[in-house]
Amino acid sequence: MTTVSSRTLEIAHDWKSTDYYDKAESDAWTDPFWKPGTPFRRLFERLDTTSTVELACGHGRHSARFLSTKRDQTTLRSLVLMDVVEENVRHCKKRFSDVPEVSAHTNSGYDFHPVADGSVSAIFCFDAMVHFEYDAVFSYLQDASRILRQGGRALFHHSNLDTYPGSDYRNNPHWRNFMSRNLFAHAASRSGLRVLEQVTIDWDEARNLDCLTLVEKASDGSPGMEKPRARSGSSRLTRLADRVRFIFLK
Ligand SMILES: C[S@@+](CC[C@H](N)C(=O)[O-])C[C@H]1O[C@@H](n2cnc3c(N)ncnc32)[C@H](O)[C@@H]1O
Repeated sequence: MTTVSSRTLEIAHDWKSTDYYDKAESDAWTDPFWKPGTPFRRLFERLDTTSTVELACGHGRHSARFLSTKRDQTTLRSLVLMDVVEENVRHCKKRFSDVPEVSAHTNSGYDFHPVADGSVSAIFCFDAMVHFEYDAVFSYLQDASRILRQGGRALFHHSNLDTYPGSDYRNNPHWRNFMSRNLFAHAASRSGLRVLEQVTIDWDEARNLDCLTLVEKASDGSPGMEKPRARSGSSRLTRLADRVRFIFLK
């Protein structure tokens, strides 16, 4: 997929100038993603973060936490921050100017260019994809499959709200866009990514509003699609066909 609907750029525009970024820096807003024992942290620890991309980084609060938890650990070869809003990327370049492994890029809003094919071990995206239009989500999944090395993994925090098809996301609870756990798993699979785990989570009062999906690019290069589990159905069909043949041959 090389283009997405104009909604993607309208959504990007909503995040250009907002007090969200300052509020989000607080521990109250950031701890739920990083405190040991949270589903975000548990799944994040299943990533090999040697070469990581953070999608839709905003002002970089998650990468800052990641770097502070990573300091005592082994290799960090590169951390690439991406966002469709140029001002956010400028902010992150300044914020991380003393960390040589970090770079930041303004991207298209639907793919990971200029990240090279098969070059990253991990991708993560927190508190952002929940707002994306479905075609941008699909496009990112397809391109994630391009940039992940074999065995590389991605952790996406996305919407699980499929109650209001066609609505404007700003009218939905917590500005969640249309998506579901199953639709996401299907799109991941069609993009050559194996779904390792999905966890639905509450957001404030909204039960199961969001979902965390951990995917992996198959290390043998095989597509992420599961074999159809229709064996009993097909054998029923075979039995039916046999029966029809039997009746007509009688
Ligand atoms: C709610 S903010 C979250 C920022 C950051 N992830 C955080 O938790 O602090 C949403 C972010 O998604 C970015 N964004 C919106 N649409 C995007 C798209 N199609 N591609 C990449 N980034 C996008 C916005 O610029 C903004 O930085």
